[in-house]
This record gives sequence, structure tokens and C-alpha cells, in this order.
Amino acid sequence: MKKVLIINGPNLNLLGKREQEIYGKLSYEELNKNLAVHAGKIGVELEIYQSNHEGEIVDRIQAAKNAADFIIINAGALTHTSIGIRDALAAVSIPFIEVHLSNIFKREEFRRHSYLTDLAEGIIAGLGPRVYFLALDAAVSIMEEGK
Ligand code: DQA
Repeated sequence: MKKVLIINGPNLNLLGKREQEIYGKLSYEELNKNLAVHAGKIGVELEIYQSNHEGEIVDRIQAAKNAADFIIINAGALTHTSIGIRDALAAVSIPFIEVHLSNIFKREEFRRHSYLTDLAEGIIAGLGPRVYFLALDAAVSIMEEGK
């Protein structure tokens, strides 16, 4: 079974509690429960990791080498600042999809730039929690193609 790792960066653990008008009401725990169910339905092994710390995220990406087949990442604010996370993703050469709950292109100017996008298979942004489910489906499809 293919292994997909979802990585969530700073403050995503507060989903459902912070800025509901931007990020929605669904809690982080509910989202993860629903993602686990979806992963079961589409036949992938799913691990969901969250950290508020850049170095820990770099460590988790490094540990995924030869252990995960695909990464889905919402690096939160680190999307716009972290060359370290970018370099870790480049180093492990695991295909990944970048996701954002909000449409980062419709918000403040500083959110429009991502250090990850040009390395990603694709980016899904602005559709709320759906982005994770769409990315999971896309990941499965991309892995099927690559067989
Ligand atoms: C986010 C967008 C980022 O700009 C922000 O810092 C986040 C969440 C999103 O999912 O929309 O924390 O990645």
C-alpha cells in the first residue's frame, strides 16, 4: 500500500478555533478523522503530522526519505518564509502537493509568494478543508500513473 504523509505547519492545529471566517469551523481533529476515513476508502496508508516548529518539519521531511511515497504539505506561514523546508523537500525528492485552506492569492501581498510551489507537483488553495481530500485523490492518481 502506498504511503502518503500529510504535513501541517504552524497554527494548523488550531483549525476550527482560529479565524473561522478564513479557515472555517471544522476542527483539526475532525478533519484528520475524516481524512483517515477517506484514505481507507481509496486504499492509501496515511500519516498526518503537525508541528509549529520549522526544524521539526525539516526533520520529519528528512525522515520521510524511502519511507513515504507522497507528501501533501500545508506549511502554513512557513510557506512564505522557509528556504529550509523547501530545501528538505528538494533533498528527499518525494513528489508533493502544496495545499492551503485559504486562497493565498486573494489575501495579503506577503502570502502570494511560496517557497514551495515551483517544486510541487501542483498546488490546491482556497477551497477550505476540501484541499486535503482533493490532494489525496490527486496523489493516488499521480502514483498510479507513475507505476
Ligand atoms: C495557510 C495560509 C498561510 O498564509 C497562513 O499563514 C496559514 C494557513 C492556509 O492553509 O490557508 O497559516 O497555509
